[in-house]
Amino acid sequence: MALLNGVEFSTQELLDAQAHVWNQIYVFMNSMSLKCAIQLGIPDIIHKFGKPMTLSQLVDALPINKQKADSVHRLMRVLVHSKFFVKVNIVDGDSKNEGYWLTPASHLLLRDEPMSMAPLALAMLDPILIDPWHHVSEWFQNESSSAFVTKHGMTFWEYAGIEPKWNQLFNDAMARDAQFFVSVGIKECKQVFEGLNSMVDVGGGTGTTAKAIADTFPGMKCTVLDLPHVVDGLQGTENVTYIGGDMFKFIPPADAILLKLVLHGWSDEECVKLLEKCKESITPSKGKVGKVIIVDIVVGDNKEDHKATETQLVLDMLMMANVPGKERTEEDWAKLFFAAGFTSYKITTFGLKSVIEVFP
Ligand SMILES: C[S@@+](CC[C@H](N)C(=O)[O-])C[C@H]1O[C@@H](n2cnc3c(N)ncnc32)[C@H](O)[C@@H]1O
Repeated sequence: MALLNGVEFSTQELLDAQAHVWNQIYVFMNSMSLKCAIQLGIPDIIHKFGKPMTLSQLVDALPINKQKADSVHRLMRVLVHSKFFVKVNIVDGDSKNEGYWLTPASHLLLRDEPMSMAPLALAMLDPILIDPWHHVSEWFQNESSSAFVTKHGMTFWEYAGIEPKWNQLFNDAMARDAQFFVSVGIKECKQVFEGLNSMVDVGGGTGTTAKAIADTFPGMKCTVLDLPHVVDGLQGTENVTYIGGDMFKFIPPADAILLKLVLHGWSDEECVKLLEKCKESITPSKGKVGKVIIVDIVVGDNKEDHKATETQLVLDMLMMANVPGKERTEEDWAKLFFAAGFTSYKITTFGLKSVIEVFP
């Protein structure tokens, strides 16, 4: 037993409390170790090798100072612990060794994989997005709209407009994430898009989602609306057209408006304005029901899954720090829909995200 500020705790309680504080202080190093592995190309090197790699084979293949072999072992140890790699036995004749192999998570980090999450990891862990975290408490006390603005003096989207390298890194990260959605998500919710003749993907980035939807549903004409610095110079196809513009000012008419990972970047007031604008633009073909299709997080839809809930909550913090947005519960979403004049909605959840169909 020990007294802490006059409160009595068992030794075990204090040890657990200290371990918890340590874990939460240092856990960001998991993210940074992951970033280091991606930058060094470790998943690609092991994948290219085609079979489990021993430490010395990995060290030989890595573009590093070879005297740091022991540090590679330490980096790999933490990444094995966080399930990015596994250690397996390698038997070669009489010799037995241990080697590193990929897990499903590191397969998702291979650079040539169309739905690679490596660009997302590198964008999210770039100093441009990490630095604002040093200003969050300052942001709580000042007038700026996000810690990103406190740090960089302009909004996230303005910054992307003047920094072409960052613009490309972010758009590539989003495009690969969109590829994951089209490869995995569209199969799960095909019925949401079936029967539509036209769709506008508002804030549709470089068009990965729209192109895949147009390919999956050949009768559908898709328009991608995004800021000029995102879509300028992009080539459309027979069924996909790009428009550079401001979604708060103009959204072309269509059967359906898609908002994928857009609304979580904006305040409630801005979301209601945008949803009202979408509602005006829904002009369903004869006999069809128009709708807005939202792909975003519904906080709390995975309550029993502690890790999924934690991911949703930290994404909410990301939206707080970098844009004036938030992740929303079903109740939060419903308030926005009804405030913008919609009458009903339907949620289909897959993994961390949900597809919400919203009807006028
Ligand atoms: C988080 S990204 C999502 C991209 C894409 N929907 C996806 O899921 O991959 C948000 C997108 O909104 C776009 N955006 C931000 N402000 C906008 C505006 N005022 N008008 C049109 N697009 C905008 C950004 O350029 C960016 O491509």
